[in-house]
Amino acid sequence: MIRRVFNVSDKMRLDCYAIANSCAGNMESIYYCLQDWVNKDGRIMFVCEYNSVVRGFLVGHNIRDLARVDDLYVDRLFQRSGIGTALLRAYEDYSRKNGAGIMSLQSRATKQAKDFYEKNGFRQISADRFMEKSL
Ligand SMILES: CC(C)(COP(=O)(O)OP(=O)(O)OC[C@H]1O[C@@H](n2cnc3c(N)ncnc32)[C@H](O)[C@@H]1OP(=O)(O)O)[C@@H](O)C(=O)NCCC(=O)NCCS
Repeated sequence: MIRRVFNVSDKMRLDCYAIANSCAGNMESIYYCLQDWVNKDGRIMFVCEYNSVVRGFLVGHNIRDLARVDDLYVDRLFQRSGIGTALLRAYEDYSRKNGAGIMSLQSRATKQAKDFYEKNGFRQISADRFMEKSL
């Protein structure tokens, strides 16, 4: 189930750290994104949960008409089952309804991330893996 998160509990934060760690994610960025001030200053978070355990999460940041994906991770055991796409859709719907016209991000340097974002309609706009799509 996908839902928007307004307060990040300690358990949820640990679930998210474990997921990102299992994906060899940038932990510094995750710590930064999951501070108490999620949902302040335009920050938005969605999680996907099964049996009360987080299996995937997305943190974004909306400024005026720009929506930016800061972090998106899916538990390795649950990848390739549509969770990443569902999280992205939830964030796109939210952003569209709240006046965003463009979604942007910097993709990881992996084929997996590039293929995923291209499948979801993003195109690369610079050599350093910045990608965007119109909403
Ligand atoms: C990238 C990631 C978020 C995708 O989430 P996911 O739930 O596995 O993706 P989905 O199941 O929604 O896949 C949608 C499409 O993306 C593409 N895709 C996803 N994983 C892929 C892989 N390993 N190799 C090639 N294409 C892939 C496919 O086109 C897939 O559609 P298909 O399964 O019908 O062929 C997830 O694999 C992940 O957390 N990776 C590690 C962290 C990361 O790279 N995050 C992005 C940060 S910028």
